[in-house]
Amino acid sequence: MPSIRVLDELLISQIAAGEVVDRPAAALKELLENSLDAHANAVQVELLSGGVKLLKVGDDGDGIAQDELPLALRRHATSKIATLEDLEQVGSLGFRGEALASIAAVSQLTLTSRTASAKHAWRVQSNGGTAAAMEPAAAPAGTVIEARELYYNTPARRKFLRTPGTEFGHCEEVFKRIALSRPRLAMTLIHNGRCQWRLAPHAFVQRTRELLGEEFESATLTLDEQAAGVRVHGLIASPTFNRSVRDYQYFFVNGRFVRDRLIAHAVREAFHDVLHQDRYPAFVLFLELDPAKVDVNVHPTKSEVRFRDPGAVHQFLFHALTKALAATKAGALRAPPSPSEIEGGKPVLISAVHDHSGAMRSPPQQGSMGLGAMQPAALYDALFHRAGEAEDSAEAAQGVVPPLGFALAQLAGVYVLSQNDKGLIVVDMHAAHERIVYERLKTALEADRIPTQSLLIPATLRASRLEVALVEENGQALRQLGFELAAAGPEALIVRSVPAALCDADPVELARAVLGEIHEDGAAHALQERRDHMLATMACHAAVRANRILSVPEMNALLREMEATERSGQCNHGRPTWTQISMAELDRLFQRGQ
Ligand SMILES: Nc1ncnc2c1ncn2[C@@H]1O[C@H](COP(=O)(O)OP(=O)(O)O)[C@@H](O)[C@H]1O
Ligand SMILES: [Mg+2]
Repeated sequence: MPSIRVLDELLISQIAAGEVVDRPAAALKELLENSLDAHANAVQVELLSGGVKLLKVGDDGDGIAQDELPLALRRHATSKIATLEDLEQVGSLGFRGEALASIAAVSQLTLTSRTASAKHAWRVQSNGGTAAAMEPAAAPAGTVIEARELYYNTPARRKFLRTPGTEFGHCEEVFKRIALSRPRLAMTLIHNGRCQWRLAPHAFVQRTRELLGEEFESATLTLDEQAAGVRVHGLIASPTFNRSVRDYQYFFVNGRFVRDRLIAHAVREAFHDVLHQDRYPAFVLFLELDPAKVDVNVHPTKSEVRFRDPGAVHQFLFHALTKALAATKAGALRAPPSPSEIEGGKPVLISAVHDHSGAMRSPPQQGSMGLGAMQPAALYDALFHRAGEAEDSAEAAQGVVPPLGFALAQLAGVYVLSQNDKGLIVVDMHAAHERIVYERLKTALEADRIPTQSLLIPATLRASRLEVALVEENGQALRQLGFELAAAGPEALIVRSVPAALCDADPVELARAVLGEIHEDGAAHALQERRDHMLATMACHAAVRANRILSVPEMNALLREMEATERSGQCNHGRPTWTQISMAELDRLFQRGQ
């Protein structure tokens, strides 16, 4: 075995770069945070090829004095903390002194800076971490950092980069996060010579509207709660504005964007009974607390935090959100269930339901229960080839009662009531249908490809640039899933085909859900490791919604399909899809024969 030796500085920086600046967007985040720490009022970002060819950030902040300029590129050199006490109280975004050294180690970097009192600017250039001598330069007060050819000397890292479009999408997301957290900061973003964002200093609400759209902004509730030195404020969208992916979720702790499980949990809990579990709430929230009460030095990118008293933060957040939501709940929730809505003998609350627009529906009218209320049966015709009264009556005539019996009626738009030789069967029609669609998709994918159905009228949707790039990158995998999607402009997608089993679902919602699934780790990963989850998401979108009135033949078709489908006794979330109430149980309820 070779002997132990100490790594040289450059190699250490290159290793650190893999953690701190693993992609252009991470480098951009670090540079923007440096501008904020330097009290900039305006920043300009310029990118070429998703930031890989050029990543340039200019600001009008404090600048760096001439004698400190070489230090700025050194590892563990920072102006922001000096002692352990400083670290525990840290109020700046940076403090590890790693970012510039890491970026310099993996790029060709130029740093030009001028303080307000200096006669002119100074510039240093560095090539893969080796800095040349300083030279005078002409520039206004502030700092400009240009990193070219990111990862040119670390080919392994460069290989991991995605298409420029995807990298740009991530950069844009970083830009938006900073923009939301600092509405007073003027910001521009230029990509490949084209201006993508030009944001003037604004009040928070205007900035939010600019970045997240009017639809979001007009659906929001304002929140501002304070207790025991902790404050949370910002905007949450009322539950009717919800998303199929977690994209409109911005949470900042002391001005820093974070993804934190504790926070995510508190939010989910607060939205629990006003939002269906596969829809996500939208919000821009700021948590402020004494820096000593939160450790931001958990991860090199500082996107995770650790609270000194996690329980208290969780509780505070949960209560603040619940209070804000209380105003909207009454109108958003379904009416309480009637005593007949039972599951395994215990009364259960039916969670809120949504239609495809995401709006919650009101409970069905009393009169809708019963036989005969027909609606176009397209969905069921498409799904259940065996549907039809002829077959049912043939079976009935032979006196064979199938295990799940024959449908009697539909209850409250939610349950199918059926009679078999043991007694009454109650089926949760959405859950059951979801399971059937899911199992079908699984079988089709196991046989390599999900059958596709072209849409008569292709659907277009507004999409982020990142989503457009995802589609371009993952065409093959999407086709395997039964989708044909293409770019229809820089911020628009067109859906040409969807999986045949899902042809009655809203194609736009479906496409969004699938893109959401592949967003994080790419389609290959989603297909391998999260395959079932992904199919379940698709199935849920396609399954018949509560409140859809079914005819008796449609109900019987559903029962027959359940009998033919593996694992149809549970929905994809593990809840039962049907339950039997025997004649004996019914007799007991009515004290018959006692
Ligand atoms: N845009 C900027 N304006 C002024 N000073 C900067 C800027 N960027 C970096 N610096 C200086 O360079 C130092 C090193 O930056 P960095 O490597 O990001 O470490 P950190 O931000 O953790 O201190 C900072 O502490 C700061 O003094
Ligand atoms: Mg920094």
